[in-house]
Amino acid sequence: MTDDARKLADAVRSRAGTTPVSVGLILGSGLGHLADTVDGTAIGYADLPGFPHAGVSGHNPKLVIGDLEGVRVAVLGGRAHYYESGRSDAMRLPLEVLQLLGAEALIVTNAAGSMRADIPPGELMLLSDHINFSGLNPLIGEPTDARFVPMTQAYDPGLRAGLRAAAEAEAVALQEGVYAWYSGPSFETPAEIRAIRTLGADAVGMSTVPEVILARFLGLRVAGVSTITNMAAGLSDEAISHEHTKAMAPLGAAKLERVLRRFLRDRAG
Ligand code: HPA
Repeated sequence: MTDDARKLADAVRSRAGTTPVSVGLILGSGLGHLADTVDGTAIGYADLPGFPHAGVSGHNPKLVIGDLEGVRVAVLGGRAHYYESGRSDAMRLPLEVLQLLGAEALIVTNAAGSMRADIPPGELMLLSDHINFSGLNPLIGEPTDARFVPMTQAYDPGLRAGLRAAAEAEAVALQEGVYAWYSGPSFETPAEIRAIRTLGADAVGMSTVPEVILARFLGLRVAGVSTITNMAAGLSDEAISHEHTKAMAPLGAAKLERVLRRFLRDRAG
């Protein structure tokens, strides 16, 4: 763990209190609203040196520490993407801080394109696994043997079961599938989508995978949920755009918020 992370964790504790965090959350495009509903202390990324700067429209760049449904959470309202900086480890410092604050579980959310007709826009997909189609890795250059992170059960079976149960209790459909990471920021071509569909992916996006690798490196248990904003390139007549992603994300986000709240409430109880 770097000194920078330790200093930041100390600075966060001095503002938000020393109660250990239990669960970390990363909010994707259109999901940042949840950060505003946490009863706690919000710290803008601008006040946290090394946290991602301007970010991407549709994100809410602040760290919020507080209580959500009786669970101590640390919410990252926005993320850095590889395509913003060319650095796939851009989320390493924020994740190190979360881990130092005590988080033992991380829930990662994102907006994604679907390759499955039975998971249309507006639906949620629980990540069962991922394909790192970018070939990039945030642990390149990490000097310790800890870099050889097993990824066999990257998405924790216990957390997944908890999220499935929460979705069922909320009567929210929650499909499961494999998420493929393309670097972006351009969207995929129809041929690229056909390729990853053939290889076993169910949804595609430009984030999440580097954070999941880093979180596993840091020993956090991980779960991921996609809100489907569009059918992937070539699979529908609808044009694909960032505007469309932002406009569609709230459809799934409302359901995802209910599922996450129920999941935390079950955990607290
Ligand atoms: N591709 C990549 N990223 C995305 C998509 C997509 O179709 N939709 C939302 N994020």
